[in-house]
Amino acid sequence: MPSSITLNARISAIGSYVPSRILNNTDLQAMVDTNDEWIVQRTGIHERRIATEDEFTSHLCIRAVEDMLAHYPVQLEDVELIIVATHTPDLPFPSTACLIQDHFGIPATGAYDLNATCAGFAYALHTASALISAGVHRKVLVIGGDTLSKITDYSDRSTCILFGDGAGAVLLESEEEHPAFLAHYLSTDGSGGKHVYRTGLASSLHGNPLEGQGKLVQNGREVYRYAVTTVPQGIEKLLAKTAMGVKDIAWFIPHSANLRIIESICEKSGIPFEQALYSLEYYGNTSAASIPLALDMGVKEGKVKAGDTLLLYGFGGGLTQAGLIVRWG
Ligand code: ACO
Repeated sequence: MPSSITLNARISAIGSYVPSRILNNTDLQAMVDTNDEWIVQRTGIHERRIATEDEFTSHLCIRAVEDMLAHYPVQLEDVELIIVATHTPDLPFPSTACLIQDHFGIPATGAYDLNATCAGFAYALHTASALISAGVHRKVLVIGGDTLSKITDYSDRSTCILFGDGAGAVLLESEEEHPAFLAHYLSTDGSGGKHVYRTGLASSLHGNPLEGQGKLVQNGREVYRYAVTTVPQGIEKLLAKTAMGVKDIAWFIPHSANLRIIESICEKSGIPFEQALYSLEYYGNTSAASIPLALDMGVKEGKVKAGDTLLLYGFGGGLTQAGLIVRWG
């Protein structure tokens, strides 16, 4: 079934930022019982970037927007809505988006955070492009940013090897001539929420006992299984909403959770692995930032070119996922 949305939003600019501090596999070896060979073999990750103690998600998001402004002739004065995808906001409130509005002095805009964990950036693009397509807004600033290091348990070797910090920002503008958002697909399995969650105000989730306030708890095997079984199905459903097939996709940009997950999804979906763009090798799993980081790297390296059709696919805690087919440029 084709999407009922009239599609006329496009991405006009992109930028990204990661903190300067590096945490490599050798550093982790000194912290938990692990080693470089195991981490690289099981995840493909060599390094991650870690925010300093007084550096929070809003700071990373601001730097990503500044990077965007340095590379594109765009301005923020007439932004009508700011959506920040994050599950690690500086504070429960005010939202990170409000901090961004204040920093840049954007005069007449809405601002809110959206939490769909690692699928957050794809969810935010879904929302922003739909609002533009519906004629509600003309210019929306979408940012994906997370500081996973703030909620990672560095005594748990099965999680601390994965996560890093970063942010990516894009500007969406209305475009009547060349629609860029070609299809959307969302899916949720709340029953799997117990497999990856952050402890918070509730004392338990599905009967699981609290394991450290404010920390990320995960059953890696279950999340892995969820990703490699359901994401290929989701990609098939997403493509079925268009007249396109895998051969029409120039670049596949999945959430950078684990290189083995990406390899498996590519194999099951018939996507050549060389066409996957990911940010995990040197940044780890940066949650809502991982897709815009990979896209921005692809653009800056000259791989992603105007007219390319991209398949963006986020998946993560919830359990939830979101896929989009987007024409670049
Ligand atoms: N170093 C060495 N050994 C380790 C490590 C480590 N860092 N971590 C686990 N092991 C051991 C285990 O204890 C286990 O030992 P055992 O066989 O003696 O019991 C063995 O390695 C195998 O463990 P598995 O959990 O089966 O390892 P697996 O190959 O599944 O890799 C991993 C674990 C990397 C966590 C993987 O399952 C994964 O990436 N899962 C997906 C996680 C994810 O993507 N989360 C994203 C969601 S986050 C969000 O949404 C905010």
